[in-house]
Amino acid sequence: LSYWKDYNEAGSTQPPRPRLVNTLDRFCADRSGIALDLGSGGGRDAKELLRRGWGVVCVDSDPHAIELLSSLAATDSRLSVLRSSFEELSLPKDEFDLVTASYSLPFCGEKHFSELWRKLVESLKTGGLLSLELFGKRDSWRNAPLGANGAMTFLSREEVESLLDPFELLFFNEDERDSTTFSGELKHWHIFTCVAKKKATSQYG
Ligand SMILES: C[S@@+](CC[C@H](N)C(=O)[O-])C[C@H]1O[C@@H](n2cnc3c(N)ncnc32)[C@H](O)[C@@H]1O
Repeated sequence: LSYWKDYNEAGSTQPPRPRLVNTLDRFCADRSGIALDLGSGGGRDAKELLRRGWGVVCVDSDPHAIELLSSLAATDSRLSVLRSSFEELSLPKDEFDLVTASYSLPFCGEKHFSELWRKLVESLKTGGLLSLELFGKRDSWRNAPLGANGAMTFLSREEVESLLDPFELLFFNEDERDSTTFSGELKHWHIFTCVAKKKATSQYG
């Protein structure tokens, strides 16, 4: 998709997402570890994680994002880059101290979302953090070409709450607003912002 090429080209020089910065400031002031950045784009968040001493594994399906990330990885061996779609992703278990996904998981096809979520939860260590956005059912992309035919995942609040069962909530916000997208199109956003900590398996399973 050339949409992602342009988006990630522009995004790679943008500052890190405020939600990630807040997560790191508030909950990781005295710790770092290995982070998984799902749908990382050109690496705006990965750069911030590296700067703060984290090792980072970036996953994205867009070849141009992978190119941008690979040149970053060539100068920093703490960064690993994996080209994969969310739908075909395989992840190690019990590996990561943080899973972050900035405006990316909703682009997983709806048939594959619960499987992706299960893998994501399993890939986190107990006590590891999750920090991401999910899209709600009133998001206007649900009816637009991008989200048509189940190509994206839109969730109800109840569905999001149930996805978060394995976690202790640290921050949760549901927001709806009208504004423009990267490409200048008007859009109704319905966004869940979640920061949460993985509980021990016995506490949820
Ligand atoms: C809205 S961008 C967000 C990029 C970056 N995280 C940021 O905050 O700017 C969504 C990212 O998800 C990637 N993406 C979209 N669909 C995907 C899929 N099915 N599998 C893996 N990555 C996907 C795109 O290539 C893009 O880099």
